[in-house]
Amino acid sequence: MLGSKSIISFEDARAKAKRKLPRMIFDFIEGSAGREIASDRNSEIFNDIFLKSKVLAEIKDPKLNSKFLNYSFDFPFGIAPMGMCDLAWPGADKNLAETAKKFNIPLCVSTAASSSLEDLKKWGKDQTWFQLYVNGPTQDAWTLVDRAKAAEYKTLILTVDVPVVSRRVRDLRNGFIVPFKIGLKQFVDFSLHPHWSLSTLFKGIPEPKNFRHGSENRFDRNASRAGANWEFLDALREKWKGNLIVKGIMDTDDASRVQNAGVDAIWVSNHGGRQLDSSPPALSALPKIRNTVGPNMPIIFDSGARNGEDVVKALALGANFVMLGRPIMMALAASSKKGLNDYLSLLKDEIGVVMAQLGINDLEKISGDVLYDGISKNIR
Ligand SMILES: Cc1cc2nc3c(=O)[nH]c(=O)nc-3n(C[C@H](O)[C@H](O)[C@H](O)COP(=O)(O)O)c2cc1C
Repeated sequence: MLGSKSIISFEDARAKAKRKLPRMIFDFIEGSAGREIASDRNSEIFNDIFLKSKVLAEIKDPKLNSKFLNYSFDFPFGIAPMGMCDLAWPGADKNLAETAKKFNIPLCVSTAASSSLEDLKKWGKDQTWFQLYVNGPTQDAWTLVDRAKAAEYKTLILTVDVPVVSRRVRDLRNGFIVPFKIGLKQFVDFSLHPHWSLSTLFKGIPEPKNFRHGSENRFDRNASRAGANWEFLDALREKWKGNLIVKGIMDTDDASRVQNAGVDAIWVSNHGGRQLDSSPPALSALPKIRNTVGPNMPIIFDSGARNGEDVVKALALGANFVMLGRPIMMALAASSKKGLNDYLSLLKDEIGVVMAQLGINDLEKISGDVLYDGISKNIR
């Protein structure tokens, strides 16, 4: 059975994606801020958390379904918003939406998506959420909010941790910009990856479909996203009657303030280390924020989770739901829709296996009690 899977671990997906993608595209997906220490730490910290195995529990058909906000999902994980997913492989956005629907998990559609928010909602249906960046004039953001409402999105995510786009050295070095500026370096890079290059050329070079820079649909990752502030959040809460989630919280005071603004969920994240290289690992902020906002505030977590055990650890440390970013793009780049399907299946299988080891039948029972010896030194 394993033989029919194209991906049996995150590391597989990454290795295959690295082989298939031009370096500039792989670096755009994997790269982080500065010296990329924060993104490494995001994943490494999971290794310092131990889980407690419990014996002789009767385990049958572990329940992995998760109630979150007013949704009933089949699993406690979903797909974080990512711009320009079609760069991973042509048709990636459509694959994401259809696969999220099949798995009954949320897909977060980025403002910088390479398909329109209307198309993504049509392909993905009810569990498709829209993520808002405030790029440039605030009026453009309100137009996006109106479009999201007209397309019948029920959940809006405001990303707040990109006041300016950080310096991502790999992108700067590679001259990453869409449409591509093809100099000699890029030409050689693309020529060495003909499968990706010809497929992408054949389907048309991806562009951001939800916003414009002047007269062009150019994806300039250095464009300012600084238009959101506390007043904007209040105005958004006033206007958006559906679920409102604020993404990118790492500080307990910010968490309290966001909670007081009346949001429906807080998303603990350091943007996968793509913004502040000296950020502590996002997982270390999670229990602190849980303690601050109390047991009833819904919390989403992302940054660094790579496998099912990581998902369980984040749940044990206070998250209600876990999102993944890069692994999803890597799986798509590795083997397109099949890669994504295989990766999501492996997450599901891993969570079931871990629950059995912990003597737990029902995901709802995951709490701090499953942590071995309390919480690790790095988390405290
Ligand atoms: C290629 C890429 C593009 C991203 N684009 C966005 C975006 O448009 N909006 C956003 O809120 N976050 C964006 N993120 C951040 C993710 O939503 C998420 O916070 C991060 O990837 C989680 O860390 P992980 O990659 O370690 O799972 C992006 C991340 C990646 C890797």
